[in-house]
Amino acid sequence: EAKPLVDTFQRRITYLRLSVTDRCDLRCTYCMPERMQFLPRKEVLSLEELYKLSLGFIARGVTKIRITGGEPLVRRDILELFRALGRKLGPAGHGGLEELTLTTNGTQLARYATDLHRAGVRRVNVSLDTLDEGKFARLSRRDKLKDVLVGLAAAKEAGLKVKINTVALKGVNEDELPDLIAWAHGEGHDLTLIEVMPLGDVDEDRVDHFLPLSDVRARLEQRWTLEPLSESTGGPARYERIAETGGKLGMITPLTNNFCAGCNRLRVTATGQLYPCLGGGERVDLRAALRSENPEANLERALVEAMTIKPEKHHFDISERGAEPAQPRHMSMTGG
Ligand code: GTP
Ligand code: 5AD
Ligand code: SF4
Repeated sequence: EAKPLVDTFQRRITYLRLSVTDRCDLRCTYCMPERMQFLPRKEVLSLEELYKLSLGFIARGVTKIRITGGEPLVRRDILELFRALGRKLGPAGHGGLEELTLTTNGTQLARYATDLHRAGVRRVNVSLDTLDEGKFARLSRRDKLKDVLVGLAAAKEAGLKVKINTVALKGVNEDELPDLIAWAHGEGHDLTLIEVMPLGDVDEDRVDHFLPLSDVRARLEQRWTLEPLSESTGGPARYERIAETGGKLGMITPLTNNFCAGCNRLRVTATGQLYPCLGGGERVDLRAALRSENPEANLERALVEAMTIKPEKHHFDISERGAEPAQPRHMSMTGG
């Protein structure tokens, strides 16, 4: 019986964010430069390796796995991984995997929604920053809003619960946020706003577009009544209900309201690098462990090491640091 993963701040790790590719069919300006350098394919873990790795985490007490990217649905045969992990799902408290989910940009959801649901996925987080076609094309540098909207409809049709993720950007989607929220709630989706984080060099200065969610909240409160909710999905968002729409609104505020004390997660890149913190540079090489003579013992050792290097909190600071990213690693390496 393996011991649970507990870090030096007594935080229990139950949530794995597993990136399956660093590639993406969009180029969101806050996430990547237009000419993004992607990893050579041979660096990336095979689907079998990703599966084995996941089993190792499940054996160590992880109950929730979120598949991320880049864009996870651009990885060929990715359904195989969902199906394999889906077979490990069981009811809450059975001591194994309880939730299998993904974060996607939605462009290919139309193709995958039904099969994801069949594999055992019940909730998906879909990134969407604007409902304006031109704005979407400028922000993501690809003209694919229609695909995302068709994908969202397919997700709903397939019975997947959708949470929309919206990065709040000053002078970009700032004015549209209330309409976006009203639309999402009308569709039956939850929506979470996110403060832009300084990860990886992009072609712009993120400070120009940084929007503190405290500002957004003040504006929303002029239009709506926000009622705090105590529930959590195990992620960093704080949720409220908007009385008038009946929908749920989440806020992820790494810059203005730190939530690290409740951190329960680790992230692994597509090359098997375990980052104990989104904001930290320290990592542990799980691929080396996985490909060693004695993978089980070495994986175990790597996880124990990860627990010792997980920092108390991230040190993001966008206002003072200016254009300088807190880490050179892009968000697409860890999928957030
Ligand atoms: P659920 O709560 O399960 O719905 O997921 P989530 O909101 O945690 O995950 P999602 O993949 O939808 O990510 C939403 C945003 O939260 C992304 O911008 C992530 O980078 C951010 N995020 C998730 N976990 C962390 C974290 O540990 N630290 C920081 N700073 N941001 C995080
Ligand atoms: N800061 C905050 N959120 C980001 N995302 C991508 N890059 C950043 C960033 N620099 C968001 C995506 C997606 C989620 C996984 O992370 O829009 O919703
Ligand atoms: Fe792709 Fe997501 Fe990055 Fe946009 S934010 S470029 S959809 S990985």
